[in-house]
Amino acid sequence: MRIDILTLFPEMFQCLLVPGIFERAIERGMVRVNTHNIRDYTHDKHHVVDDYAYGGGAGMILKPEPIFEAVESIKSDIYKEEVNSGELPVILLTPQGRPFSQQIALELSRHACLILICGRYEGVDERVRQHLVTDEVSIGDYVISGGELAAMVLVDAVVRLLPGVLGSEDSVQNDSHTTGMLEYPQYTRPAEYRGWAVPEVLLSGNHAEIVKWRREQAIWRTLERRPELLDKTELSSEEKKLVDRLKNIRLGSAIK
Ligand code: ADE
Repeated sequence: MRIDILTLFPEMFQCLLVPGIFERAIERGMVRVNTHNIRDYTHDKHHVVDDYAYGGGAGMILKPEPIFEAVESIKSDIYKEEVNSGELPVILLTPQGRPFSQQIALELSRHACLILICGRYEGVDERVRQHLVTDEVSIGDYVISGGELAAMVLVDAVVRLLPGVLGSEDSVQNDSHTTGMLEYPQYTRPAEYRGWAVPEVLLSGNHAEIVKWRREQAIWRTLERRPELLDKTELSSEEKKLVDRLKNIRLGSAIK
């Protein structure tokens, strides 16, 4: 996968190179991340990238010209080297975008190339939204200083889904949100720590029982913390009964 990121702060993306999942993916050639400084696509002496808002108001707006030119230049480079680049998403990171999710990460991981635009200042000229970007993504209902950290979140979530990037495919399969539910509790050695014992079933060696216990724990945890997720999760009829039972237990303890 090739990811091109437009930003005023390319140096922020150095942290993607620190040892970890990402470094391995880059070294193995599974992903290539190119950062582009929007300022390099200006033509004036002072490399101005922003300007006052028409109609007045506080804050500066990112100008359209350098962003259009940067994306067009990147696209022509991609088309030269990736004949089969397919549909090419151009994603603006903005608090106004669609809420990022595991589902969107999965959807984006199927593309050969992504172009990400990190917004800054008070916003981006609306014509960038209307005529250049194909998608807008928000990482949550809060405002951060710019799209850079949001882009890193998106890139991390997408890259770890690429086949072969994680050690074991299993770790993606069981991730919280991949299953539609939160993940079950995990334990490692020692079997007892400060008097707190690991649940016996996990030490039993009975694989079927462990799978059952984990699934029930995932359901229980999701019901407690994010009950709305269960409405979208496929459950067997037995699991549905379990949910009803757990709901009743919860209701019972709430009344007490
Ligand atoms: N830029 C500023 N806040 C953001 C957010 N919540 N998501 C994506 N980009 C942003």
